[in-house]
Amino acid sequence: MTSALIADLERGLATREAAGLQRIRRTLASPQGARVIVGGREVVSFASNDYLGLATHPEVVAAAREGAARWGVGAGASHLICGHFAPHAALEAELAAFARPCAGARALTFSSGYLANLATLTALAGRGDAIFADRLNHACLNDGALLSRAEFVRYPHADAAVLRRCLAASGAKRKLIATDAVFSMDGDVAPLPSLCALAEEFDAWLVVDDAHGFGVLGAGENGGRGTLAHFGLASERIVYMGTLGKAAGVAGAFVAAHSAVIETMIQTARSYVFTTAGPPLLAEALRASLRILRDDAARRAHLFALIDRFRSRLSAGPWALPGSPTPIHPLVVGASAAAVEFADALWRRGFWVPAIRPPTVPRGTARLRVTLSAAHTMADVDALADALAELAPAFGSIRAR
Ligand SMILES: Cc1ncc(COP(=O)(O)O)c(C=O)c1O
Repeated sequence: MTSALIADLERGLATREAAGLQRIRRTLASPQGARVIVGGREVVSFASNDYLGLATHPEVVAAAREGAARWGVGAGASHLICGHFAPHAALEAELAAFARPCAGARALTFSSGYLANLATLTALAGRGDAIFADRLNHACLNDGALLSRAEFVRYPHADAAVLRRCLAASGAKRKLIATDAVFSMDGDVAPLPSLCALAEEFDAWLVVDDAHGFGVLGAGENGGRGTLAHFGLASERIVYMGTLGKAAGVAGAFVAAHSAVIETMIQTARSYVFTTAGPPLLAEALRASLRILRDDAARRAHLFALIDRFRSRLSAGPWALPGSPTPIHPLVVGASAAAVEFADALWRRGFWVPAIRPPTVPRGTARLRVTLSAAHTMADVDALADALAELAPAFGSIRAR
């Protein structure tokens, strides 16, 4: 007989399904890329965050293979016990020199961006402090804020004027502003210069989660350095987080900041101290990927050409895309069930574009999230735009902004 505990879970799952909120996992039978095999069928994928197509780059794959041959597979322990290897140390030095959020910055690597954000927020804020967070921040910044036990204040999306009032009204001992740099489900860019000025004015930290800007934004010799480079920003108050499983194509994340911040995290951040280090072979793969990400300007130029083409193809509507230079494009539909139907209609035409629903996005703003990658061709983008134009009368009901 089914226990009451199981019956309770089953009721919850049925409720989710009825609300169009059930999530499914599609299983890939091919490497990540513009084309992937799912269920024996090839589809053109606009779903991954592999913005530069590095997840399968031959030099990155070779570095992982050689790294496995040289260092083995597992790290064997946390960084503070005996799991910190020469490739981790070299990668951290290279990331610090590349990201440069302030003079003399150091970097610290993590197994995921989720763990990195938990570490930063819990190391820099606690009881009696206050964290001010953009309402559209990624879930792991919110979770880090809750775990820190600091007061958690959410300000309206990208609204520096309201944030200023919140900071001015706060009597907290230490203040910390936390924001996505590129908003993961909207693709727009946070007003970092204004937030940095507020951090100076109110003596606050500015935690910048650049999961989707690192490797993508920045121009010329700063290409790929991310959203700080995009704005030409640097400050001792900035604690910069970049993920390494998106544009960098591998896995993990890093925090780059003033040496005192990094040392504090090494000493105190529980999601750094109490977890096994990432495999050193991945650090070798990341060193190769960082070289390409830094030096291969053509790859980024191709991505931006695809972004321009997609945006101009969609400019006739009905979806109003945010005015941002990123590979993330939300097509807001509204109801969760409609977003799922829209994604299914594209899937039947051979395109994988995920439906994003609450709680990942606010209620009533379910959407398709189109992500472009340097692995795509112009023809891929045109084919998707054609399919979207065909489906627009049925699904383009709500304007995004
Ligand atoms: C804005 C943002 N921050 C953090 C993360 C977490 O990074 P990771 O996937 O490496 O845990 C993600 C995505 O997963 C993200 O979109």
